[in-house]
Amino acid sequence: MRIVAENLNFTYNKKSKFAVDALKDVSLTIEEGSFFGIIGHTGSGKSTFIQHLNGLIPVENGRLTVGDIDLSGKQKEVKKRYKELRAKVGMVFQYPEYQLFAETVFEDVAFGYRNFFPDAQPDEVKTAVFGALSLLGLGAEYLDKSPLDLSGGQKRRVAIAGVLVSNPEVLVLDEPVAGLDPAGKNELMALLHKLHDSKRVKTIVIVSHDMDEVCENCTDVAVFSEGQIVFKGKPEEVFKNVEQMNDLRLGVPVTSFLTDELKKIGVDIDTDFTQKDFIEKIASHYKNNK
Ligand SMILES: Nc1ncnc2c1ncn2[C@@H]1O[C@H](COP(=O)(O)OP(=O)(O)OP(=O)(O)O)[C@@H](O)[C@H]1O
Ligand SMILES: [Mg+2]
Repeated sequence: MRIVAENLNFTYNKKSKFAVDALKDVSLTIEEGSFFGIIGHTGSGKSTFIQHLNGLIPVENGRLTVGDIDLSGKQKEVKKRYKELRAKVGMVFQYPEYQLFAETVFEDVAFGYRNFFPDAQPDEVKTAVFGALSLLGLGAEYLDKSPLDLSGGQKRRVAIAGVLVSNPEVLVLDEPVAGLDPAGKNELMALLHKLHDSKRVKTIVIVSHDMDEVCENCTDVAVFSEGQIVFKGKPEEVFKNVEQMNDLRLGVPVTSFLTDELKKIGVDIDTDFTQKDFIEKIASHYKNNK
């Protein structure tokens, strides 16, 4: 399922003096199978954009198609497609653990399933809930626990399981690792990769402020600034724009910064800016010039 936005515009509080043009002519294609990173400084329109992807914000101006679901046009008609859309595109908000509400982990995740399959039999719900939790590294021992008794990282995984349980094709996560410690970040990223590699979720879209994180994990990147897309493409292309990314006060991954500095002193390496590739290229440069 491919996502195509063409000249998407969105204004908050239209027709009032508090109007904010949050998206300006955003055109972007998110291919099926990508692990897509959306970056940009605060207030640049990232969350506004992703909320369009499952109908939380209606298409006001421009075009948006998610697979064969067209979200543009008369909103009365479009709204009829929301149920189908939301079954396909799961949305995980920033700090999703704040939305856990049930008494047990099981009930919380089951709520996510029954939302889409209200007639499901108890056995079916149980299988789905257990499956989703185990994909997020949480075993049966968590089912009866209160979400309040879990660590921050575990709560977040329960919240993601509540979205994953209904089998979306696309998972959109707004800053999924924000506020976690380094080990927790790595662990959650590894789980997202596992979901992606096994094709349990075909396409993953993450919003991030962290250039290194996006560079290490994403197949494609779009950089937002003041409601517009200023760069889009493969990380190795986007992060070549060191000066422009610095001007935008976003910076670049440390590998990209170092590659740029090395170039200034005559050491030219051709790397995709992942740490693994960067180290390999430096090692090979060193060996060849010994
Ligand atoms: N509900 C709202 N009402 C009015 N203006 C809003 C609303 N939500 C966002 N905005 C404004 O729209 C613009 C884009 O906001 P958005 O939340 O999409 O940015 P963001 O890139 O996700 O930022 P952050 O990194 O801080 O999460 C900002 O100027 C913001 O102040
Ligand atoms: Mg945001």
